[in-house]
Order: sequence, then structure tokens, then C-alpha cells
Amino acid sequence: MLACAPYKELKLICIRIYWVITMKQKKLVVVGLGYVGLPVAVKFAEAGFDVVGIDIIPEKVEMINKGESPIKGKEPKLDELLKSVVSSGTLKATTSYEPIREADYVLIVVQTPFNMLSKEPYYQALRSAVRSVGQNLKRGALVIIESTVAPGTMNKIVIPILEAESGLKAGKEFLLATAPERVMPGKLLWNLVNLDRVVGGINEESTQAAIELYKHIVKGELYPTDALTAEIVKTTENAYRDVQIAFANEIALLCENVGADVYQVRELVNKSPYRNMHLPGAGVGGHCLPKDSWLLAFGARGANSPRLIALAREINDSMPRHLSDLCVEALKEAGVGIYGAKVTVLGIAYLENSDDTRNSPAFTLIKALEVYGAHPIVHDPFVEEANGIVIEKSLDNAIRDSDCVVLVTAHDDYHNVDLDHLKKLMRTPVIVDGRKVFDKKECYAKGFVFRGIGR
Ligand SMILES: NC(=O)c1ccc[n+]([C@@H]2O[C@H](COP(=O)([O-])OP(=O)(O)OC[C@H]3O[C@@H](n4cnc5c(N)ncnc54)[C@H](O)[C@@H]3O)[C@@H](O)[C@H]2O)c1
Repeated sequence: MLACAPYKELKLICIRIYWVITMKQKKLVVVGLGYVGLPVAVKFAEAGFDVVGIDIIPEKVEMINKGESPIKGKEPKLDELLKSVVSSGTLKATTSYEPIREADYVLIVVQTPFNMLSKEPYYQALRSAVRSVGQNLKRGALVIIESTVAPGTMNKIVIPILEAESGLKAGKEFLLATAPERVMPGKLLWNLVNLDRVVGGINEESTQAAIELYKHIVKGELYPTDALTAEIVKTTENAYRDVQIAFANEIALLCENVGADVYQVRELVNKSPYRNMHLPGAGVGGHCLPKDSWLLAFGARGANSPRLIALAREINDSMPRHLSDLCVEALKEAGVGIYGAKVTVLGIAYLENSDDTRNSPAFTLIKALEVYGAHPIVHDPFVEEANGIVIEKSLDNAIRDSDCVVLVTAHDDYHNVDLDHLKKLMRTPVIVDGRKVFDKKECYAKGFVFRGIGR
């Protein structure tokens, strides 16, 4: 039997035997099985922990228990690893919080959006998850917040709820740390394992216990700090990136106005030491970047009012509307009005080769096109449905009789589009590129009207 088992399963069986012989197998619960929680649960299960994943969505739980990943983008190794740990019994999913009663480790990885109307974090999921954990917490367990939160959340929200619900004292009767994730769709497992990680406990013992835990799955450095610093580090990392992208977008707009190519400018700027100009584009999306700057600003409120990161948000948020203006301009050059034009939007996911549509700039673009009176048709190879928008699965159908193709997401499929074929199918040969997928010179040579962000 064993001799026939594939190498990976054999490795898992050996790890399990090791755990059983050397110590009682540690029980670990992951609360929230989304883009981050699922890979985390899978990696700890692979490392030999007895893992239970908890989620409030029954369909997701059902899929995971069948060994099927709810994440549909290109996610190297996740599908195989999930199948393997589910079939070996080291990972189970459930909607019940009961398994927390026996858990030695509880990792909370729920979504933490920001409410732009009230200008505060929308912590419904976090509060509810922390409450449920508190109600079932075992004395001596280690609780870790992996979700990205505003600085101060541990002290103001997590500790009070956990102590009130459990009747236990944080730092004495249970340990508590924050260890924000640095993963991103498309590289979930790779980032989780290989990137350095900051781990901040509410006391020394919590920090050390959390570091010992992550050593089982993280090959990168584990940097100890306190919980508040870890919260600031995570939100600052993303605010930094957002500001850098806004800077690149500003230079892109400048290049468009003066007739230069921002990509060439960027390449040459980055030849100068200590420069690392980011890529401009159609806008910034995803669950994290658009809200983490606001989480940081919210955490700092009263201390100061960050101006640069607010301006960066404004610039990045304006990019999809700028893309819609480029469509108007390009169509005009082709002799077609935007009103009534069929515009094909390539990509609704916010990131290439991902199915994640959260805060995608494509939504703002589609809305702007509709306001202009255009008829947007959306194509995406990885997304079935998004906010009620119908997704055309056939690229040819999406392009047929189109007056303008506007690219938002640089999915691999779009790099291979044959321009002759595209032109034959389209009613008006117009391309607007939000990501530098199409070659400008080639587009001109084939007879297209072309516009591109920063080109
Ligand atoms: N997506 C990323 O690339 C990424 C990267 C780094 C950090 N983060 C951070 O990680 C956190 C999670 O992000 P995500 O992208 O995995 O979100 P997600 O929406 O994909 O996953 C969250 C999961 O938690 C579940 N959930 C919500 N409330 C729950 C509750 N009370 N009990 C149990 N399950 C509950 C949801 O049903 C969902 O499946 C966020 O704070 C995010 O900012 C995300």
C-alpha cells in the first residue's frame, strides 16, 4: 500500500507518524477560509498539524471538504496540496466554532474592509470572529490575528472582546499576537512560505510562541516585535506601495500630455541608484491596497492627518475614469462617438490571472462608460460573475462588432491576442491599453487607433 503512495502523500504520512510518536498532535484552527486563510490552513496541515478551517459560508466549506479550491485563478500548487491534506484527513472544514474548544492555536484571517462613507474600518467580520473565538477559547491557547487591521485594533478591539467572552486574561491565561500576511493572489503559497514575516505579540511570551509556530511553515526570517508595531508595519507596507503607484501614475499622465512613453522613462529612471519607480496602470484594486492606507490613517487619527497617502488614493482612484476618457478620445479619432458604441472590456479581476474582483478598477471604468452612453461587454477568463455584471466567456463573442477594446487586466490570455484576427472581428479598430499588453507600434502598423496609459 505504502509503496504505491505518491511521494507527497508518503511524506505527509511520515510527518503524521512523527507527530504521533514525538508529541500529541497539535490542534490548529483557522477562522476564515478566503484567499489567505485557505493557503494558511493547507500549509499547517501539510506540516502535520491537525487543522480545522472554519468559515461562515457553507458552500465554501463543502467545496473544501471535497478537496476543491474555491479560488479559481492561477494559484500554483494550491489545488494539489488541498486535495492531498483533505484526503489524508489533516484538514477539515466546518461552519461550527466547536473545534476551537480543543485548539492549541487559533488563527483569525477574516476580511477587514474600510467603510468609505463613515471613514472607519468595517469590522463586522473581525468582531464576530473574535467573539466566537472568545466564547470557545481553551486556557493556554495562542490566538493570532493574521488579518490586516488599523493600528491600535489589538488593544482597543481584540483584547477587550476576547477577555470579555472567554473570562480569561490575555497574555496570562491565553497568548495573543498579530502576524499580518504578505501574500498576494497568484503567489499565495510561495509568499506565505518564502517571505520574511513580522510577528508582534502582546507580551514576550506571545511573540515567542507565535514565532515558534510559524517556523513550521515559513522559510523566511521571522522578525519579533510588539503588536502595535506589527499593525503599523503591515498597513505602512501597503500605503507605501499605493503611494509609489500613484507617483508612477502621475508621471504616466505627464508623459501622455507631452507625448513621451512612461515605460521607457521608468526603465531609465530605475537605472539611477536607489530609484525603484513602480508601474503605472488602469488603477489599483484588490481587498488590500485600496483600504490599507485608510486603515493606517484611521489608526493614526488624532495624532495627525496623513496628506500624502490620501492624495495617492485620489490619484489611483482616478485612473479608471481616465481610461474611459482615453476610450472617448480614441473613438473620436476613429470617427465614432462613444454614445451607443460597443466597448469590450478585457479583464474584470483586479490582478492578472486571478479571479479576485474586489475593488477592481474595471467597475469604475464600466460605470463611466455607461454614463457616456456606451455599451460595455466584459470578458474575463477567470471570473464567472461580478456584482451582477454578465461576463462573456468567449473572447471572440466579446470582441465581435466591437468599436473599442479596452484592456484593464493583463491576464496571460490577452498577451497572445492576434491583432489581425482582432481587427477582422471588430467593427471599429480601436485599442485602449491600461497595462502595456499591446505593442503600440504594431497596433499602428495593423491600422488600429491606439491609446495607452502613459503612452
Ligand atoms: N487577499 C490578499 O491578497 C491579502 C494579502 C495580505 C493580507 N490580507 C488580509 O487578510 C485578511 C483576509 O483577506 P482575504 O483576502 O483572505 O479575505 P476573504 O474575503 O477572501 O476571506 C475571508 C473569509 O472569512 C470568512 N469569514 C468572515 N467572517 C467570518 C466569521 N465570523 N467566522 C468565520 N469565517 C468568517 C469569509 O466568509 C471569507 O471566506 C484581510 O484582513 C486582508 O486585508 C489579504
